[in-house]
Amino acid sequence: MLTEEQVIELLHPLKDPFLHKTLEETGGIEEIQIKPDKKHVSVKLAIAKLNTGEQMQLQQEIVNVLKRGGAVTVGLRFNQLADEVIAKYQPASEEKASLLSGDVDTKFISVASGKGGVGKSTVTVNLAVALARLGKRVGIIDADIYGFSVPDMMGVENRPSLKGNRIVPVERFGVKIISMGFFVEDNSPVIWRGPRLGKMLTSFFKEVEWGDLDYLLLDLPPGTGDIALDVHNILPTSKEIIVTTPHPTAAFVAARAGQMALKTDHEILGVVENMSYFQSRLTNEKEYVFGKGGGDKLADALQTEVIGRLSLQQPYEEEDVFAPSVYQEDHPNGQEYRKIAAKVISKIE
Ligand SMILES: Nc1ncnc2c1ncn2[C@@H]1O[C@H](COP(=O)(O)OP(=O)(O)OP(=O)(O)O)[C@@H](O)[C@H]1O
Ligand SMILES: [Mg+2]
Repeated sequence: MLTEEQVIELLHPLKDPFLHKTLEETGGIEEIQIKPDKKHVSVKLAIAKLNTGEQMQLQQEIVNVLKRGGAVTVGLRFNQLADEVIAKYQPASEEKASLLSGDVDTKFISVASGKGGVGKSTVTVNLAVALARLGKRVGIIDADIYGFSVPDMMGVENRPSLKGNRIVPVERFGVKIISMGFFVEDNSPVIWRGPRLGKMLTSFFKEVEWGDLDYLLLDLPPGTGDIALDVHNILPTSKEIIVTTPHPTAAFVAARAGQMALKTDHEILGVVENMSYFQSRLTNEKEYVFGKGGGDKLADALQTEVIGRLSLQQPYEEEDVFAPSVYQEDHPNGQEYRKIAAKVISKIE
């Protein structure tokens, strides 16, 4: 039958599942009792996190090890390790860098719409650039896993690099970017579903070396589908911007995305009305080509306000900078985005 020394010897190399340190290092073995007549060993252990799946695994491992050593029955009790010990061995980088851990000051803003093609990605990209121009540290997650477009819109040509096993996002115009587009070959379509999608999204938060960010913007796919729901679940504290065109139908459909935000308790920062009007360069006259009032109607329905109206216009063409969807600072839309960014900052900070 096992002696106390043998039990210690068997258990010492096992690792605390959260700290990844051996029980010898953490001093995790608190008590051992052996009843030789019944071949019973009972052990009291302290580990960093209680009641996790990892604890179950460790339990199983301990039982196996002790039974192999000759115990017929095994009793286990668990305690939480002392805070000092946890703090000493805490896997620092992992905890610190995880944007989802809740103790990071990053503000999340999801950009949503009911319909496709109204300009979510354009708004995400330009709001991010405008926030960066105002001195903020900004990142974008292109959460449109199937229909990623952020890298192309910003004219990103390089790919993320790896630092250890962490992904370093690509930076352009002072904005850090991560997109599914970086991980597929030759523009091939993404055919994942369900859990794998959600996992990808989570790893965009957890496995990316974001550094300290003030704002992280999420470009959502159109509508109220799986990904949008995942985002709502993963990021309970996210705020939302809803994009619409002035057309009444677009606004009506966008209201559904807004309702979803409200239901999941996401605060709506405001409505951005994109493609609001076309302004003639010759006469300066505004023409409301897609109708009028969609943004206001939507803002009413969601009890919020319109925080910006963009004209129907492309960025200026530049010879040396290629970023097909980024408006220059002196472009009328660039100036409007600056105002939107300032409003967002004043609403959040
Ligand atoms: N204000 C604007 N003036 C001119 N073109 C615009 C404007 N806003 C967006 N566009 C163009 O409209 C198209 C759709 O925009 P964008 O891709 O941003 O929409 P989206 O809502 O993200 O679409 P999807 O639902 O497919 O993700 C793009 O080609 C974009 O360049
Ligand atoms: Mg898009």
